Amino acid sequence: MAKIKTKEEIALIRQGGKMLNKILMQVAEIVRPGVSTFELDQMGEKLIRQAGGIPAFKNYGQPPYPGSVCTSINAEVVHGVPRKDRILKEGDIISLDVGMRYPAENGLYTDMAITVPVGKIGSELQKLVDVTRQALDIYKDNLRAGEKWSKVAGKVQKYVEGQGYGLVRDLVGHGVGHAVHEEPQLPNYVIPTYDFVLREGMVLACEPMVTSGDYEIETMEDHWTVATKDRKYSAHFEHTFAITKTGCEVLTGK
Ligand code: MF3
Ligand code: CO
Repeated sequence: MAKIKTKEEIALIRQGGKMLNKILMQVAEIVRPGVSTFELDQMGEKLIRQAGGIPAFKNYGQPPYPGSVCTSINAEVVHGVPRKDRILKEGDIISLDVGMRYPAENGLYTDMAITVPVGKIGSELQKLVDVTRQALDIYKDNLRAGEKWSKVAGKVQKYVEGQGYGLVRDLVGHGVGHAVHEEPQLPNYVIPTYDFVLREGMVLACEPMVTSGDYEIETMEDHWTVATKDRKYSAHFEHTFAITKTGCEVLTGK
């Protein structure tokens, strides 16, 4: 089951998380029509290294993920691969997902994502983004020691589906700290056969992935980019949280 982190470990993750938040905001600031996802990735990698961290996603998995920032546009849900020929255009939405090990030597991991508009976006698309951000807020407001995971995920599911959106099921949030992905798995919906109780000192990356159509996804030919099967839009937000006695702390906050 989930490793419990010490106060010292959480303090270090908090330090890295605050830096990661700043880095992600700086990357988001250069999002505009005409910018390539490669430029966003280069900026993220440069800022992570300047901060004394290591990009956690670079060379992750098999085949090795080539970027430092996952850049997922419109129907792409997560793990979009940065490319020089992938140019943002007015009206797009883009999920920027970034992980960092901090400090570079013997560091701990944090993970955070936001979805941002490119220029002006339509009101329907804005609603999708708002509902997804709100889903992450439901985690923030409900995580606490002693609570069952299914109770919190159930609130997220009820809200998102109640608004008429889909919640991706085949990808989950995760424990984080000594690696990018640790136990436990954090499904954003209720699975009757899966549950656990939240405990003080757990560090969890919660990441609702919301779609404006069906929740089915597929992986593209680049082996990484995940998109909705029906090619309807998707949004994604993520924070790294520490579970406390009375609630939680956003470790990737300002
Ligand atoms: N935040 C993403 C996740 O938890 C990180 C993906 S790993 C990468 O799934 F290899 F795609 F970078
Ligand atoms: Co994650």
